[in-house]
Amino acid sequence: MALSITVIGLGYVGLPTAALLASRGMRVHGVDSSAQVRQTLASGRSHIAEADVEALVERALRDGLFTLHAEPPPADVFIIAVPTPLAADRTPVLDHVLDAARALAPALKAGDLVLLESTSPIGTTARIAKLLAELRPELRDLAIAYGPERVLPSRILAELVENDRVAGGLTPEATARAVAFYRLFVRGAVLGTDAATAEMVKLSENAFRDVNIAFANELSLIADRHGLDVWKVIGLANRHPRVDILKPGPGVGGHCIAVDPWFLAHGAPGAARLIPAARAVDAAKRASVLEQASALCAAGERVICLGLAFKADVEDLRESPALAIASDLAQRHPGQVILVEPHLHAAPAGVAAPLLPLEEALAGPGALLVLTDHSEFRRIPPALLAGRRIIDTRGIFRTQESV
Ligand SMILES: NC(=O)c1ccc[n+]([C@@H]2O[C@H](COP(=O)([O-])OP(=O)(O)OC[C@H]3O[C@@H](n4cnc5c(N)ncnc54)[C@H](O)[C@@H]3O)[C@@H](O)[C@H]2O)c1
Repeated sequence: MALSITVIGLGYVGLPTAALLASRGMRVHGVDSSAQVRQTLASGRSHIAEADVEALVERALRDGLFTLHAEPPPADVFIIAVPTPLAADRTPVLDHVLDAARALAPALKAGDLVLLESTSPIGTTARIAKLLAELRPELRDLAIAYGPERVLPSRILAELVENDRVAGGLTPEATARAVAFYRLFVRGAVLGTDAATAEMVKLSENAFRDVNIAFANELSLIADRHGLDVWKVIGLANRHPRVDILKPGPGVGGHCIAVDPWFLAHGAPGAARLIPAARAVDAAKRASVLEQASALCAAGERVICLGLAFKADVEDLRESPALAIASDLAQRHPGQVILVEPHLHAAPAGVAAPLLPLEEALAGPGALLVLTDHSEFRRIPPALLAGRRIIDTRGIFRTQESV
């Protein structure tokens, strides 16, 4: 009998995971609280822009290996992949995770494996176990573990299989069960540990990137003061065999790196000093880019904002510094800002500036504010850049005249 899996939360993590498991012959019950998500998927379409996921979903539905539900059906393995956002006061919001645990409790049977994949503060897996023990006290042999996800949007299906993976159980048996499950489809190493360590590993990975990018951004602010090219400085420093500085930019975006470091800081007030400092540097870099662009507008220039997504070649606007800077600039200087975002068909709601195709925007005059390093922008012919003022936060036109 094929292994049955209930995946709760069918977003960027849960849907590709569900589709991949179904493609390996497992019976997958997909659960999402959004009726719209369920309807879209039931019609064979994917609501996330991720290569090849739609084709897998459609095939799994046709083969009868993927079914859609509002409430979790019984299964051998339960995967929780729901959002873990931050509240306005930067405390982690665990409501979705706890709701998912409450919802799956009635479907549990003895011996089931419950895996939390949502990025979570240290201690969340233990909290789920406590909740399940309260709701189903008769079930004594559940295996509960944390299996953090490391996928890169745009390469999710490949990375689900290829990346090394950490799996941490609340007991050694739960760790062994979780490791054995991930080994069914992961080609990378599956490394067993305890649940709290696995939780901290995931948060440490994203905090490392945030702190390192903040360092690069701080270097960019220092280099500006000295009239130096930070890209050249970092490129040469990285020739040291033990130095690996990441790239500066307009700030960190996306719903992981800009968010998860707060989970670590929140869990150890007073102990975390560097992590909040990195977030403050990020805010300072955003403000500096906004001031530079605002100065051009104040001098009468039209400013063409290149990119609104938080990183190259995706349409994802979540926590995007590019969007925040462009939006603030448009608000400060009505009528002087043009938006270019090849992955969107209309300006995002609430941003008071027109969205133009790249060629149309470049047909007229205007300074360029590079906020996202989309491939299209790298291919802009040099003739269209000549004579323009350029604020290149991504270093894509480094050989051109820069502000
Ligand atoms: N996107 C990534 O690249 C990535 C990578 C690693 C880890 N993560 C983490 O994985 C988790 C999920 O992220 P995502 O990007 O897949 O989120 P998402 O917003 O793309 O999708 C989450 C889905 O869960 C559904 N949902 C919310 N509450 C629910 C509930 N109680 N029951 C059932 N469904 C519910 C939503 O409707 C949504 O469809 C987060 O903790 C995130 O930090 C994401």
